[in-house]
Amino acid sequence: HGTSRVNERGHLVIGGCDVTELAVRYGTPLYVYDEALIRSKCRAYMEAFRQSGFRFQVAYASKAFCTMAMCKLVEEEGLSLDVVSGGELYTALQAGFPAERIHFHGNNKSLEEITMALDAGIGCFVVDNFYELDILRQLGEERNEKVAVLLRVTPGVEAHTHEYISTGQQDSKFGFDVKSGQALDAIKQAHESDWLNLLGVHSHIGSQIFETDGFIIAVERLAELLLEAKERFGYLPQVLNVGGGFGIRYVEGDTPLPPEEYVKAITTAVRQELTARDIPLPELWIEPGRSIVGEAGTTLYRIGSRKEIPDVRKYLAVDGGMTDNLRPALYQAQYEAAVANRMNEPATEQVSIAGKCCETGDMLIWDVTLPPAQAGDILAVTSTGAYGYAMANNYNRIPRPAVVFVKDGEAQLVVKRESFADLIRHDLLPTCAEVLR
Ligand code: LLP
Repeated sequence: HGTSRVNERGHLVIGGCDVTELAVRYGTPLYVYDEALIRSKCRAYMEAFRQSGFRFQVAYASKAFCTMAMCKLVEEEGLSLDVVSGGELYTALQAGFPAERIHFHGNNKSLEEITMALDAGIGCFVVDNFYELDILRQLGEERNEKVAVLLRVTPGVEAHTHEYISTGQQDSKFGFDVKSGQALDAIKQAHESDWLNLLGVHSHIGSQIFETDGFIIAVERLAELLLEAKERFGYLPQVLNVGGGFGIRYVEGDTPLPPEEYVKAITTAVRQELTARDIPLPELWIEPGRSIVGEAGTTLYRIGSRKEIPDVRKYLAVDGGMTDNLRPALYQAQYEAAVANRMNEPATEQVSIAGKCCETGDMLIWDVTLPPAQAGDILAVTSTGAYGYAMANNYNRIPRPAVVFVKDGEAQLVVKRESFADLIRHDLLPTCAEVLR
């Protein structure tokens, strides 16, 4: 997919770059992003909304992959940005992302984070709970400014997805519960406050969702909630945000819809449900993360040791693993791979790809059929662009890999590889004096 192909040497080429050359130039493991593919996903969402006639914002959920280069790219494409921490906010601001297009999420924002966001002049807070609502009201009053907010509500929809990443169901740590009346109460409080500008409501029903029915049910529930808010306190929303969660293809058999299909289902449902309840159409927002960057990312590894247990299994180990891609260990997530320097050779050997961490569960792929590979070959694992680098860690004191963007035969280093010195940057050796004291 994207701009990948195979060259005359039988090597995998992404964005016009032979990945085996990237592996030599930048080292491995290496995250390679197909810039054209990221941009085309951004454009697909923007274009689908333009067609719909809605006023809209497409906010990239930066948690999927947050670096300064990515924030800048997203800015250039005209998207907004969803951040969930002071760190993501800082990254975006440092990249020059316009504050007014930043939406701040999170179920436990600290006072420092909230103050930082207010000082920067962000577009809005997506308020998760009554505690945060109180803090924002109070800060608004202290600062004598109205704080723009959306209320995150849990409409009680369970998306068909892995249980760890479904967040729209009633029993969730996120958002104001609709069923018990908390959501309505929050709307009333925010609407009546002199210090809050209640833009509207938000819901997010889960992640890696293939069907549109979950979104449609969520829109119905949101419309019901808004009808009650209208009838009880005359509240009309300026914004409706239906979150992200649109699926991508990791392995054969994954059947995501193209961006325009999700947008079409959502815009149709919103128009229908709100019109039926005589609620003027608000601006419509979505927050895709994974579907913007997931398929654009490929991780390159160098193959090292091999272990064969006769009649049982063959293990091939690579120079990364759960430190650069936690998803297989955390969610039993599945991936496909190719031997990037043997693309034209027949796949005849079944192997399992092991990481290098001291942990039995550090397996990237079980039972994949590849051309017979040797130590020194380059393994390319595809669709690693979302929640790969974002969840990378230093377990076993393994430095985080570098990230490059590739486009039209040019590679641009956008995150440097961590060094061993980086690993001990915050370590302190206790001095004798301190030990004695
Ligand atoms: N908006 C909200 C409020 C969210 O909680 C999320 C994801 C998104 C948007 C973006 O969802 P996306 O379009 O990327 O599916 N680490 C997990 C995914 C966690 C998603 C959490 N929330 C994984 O690797 O699968």
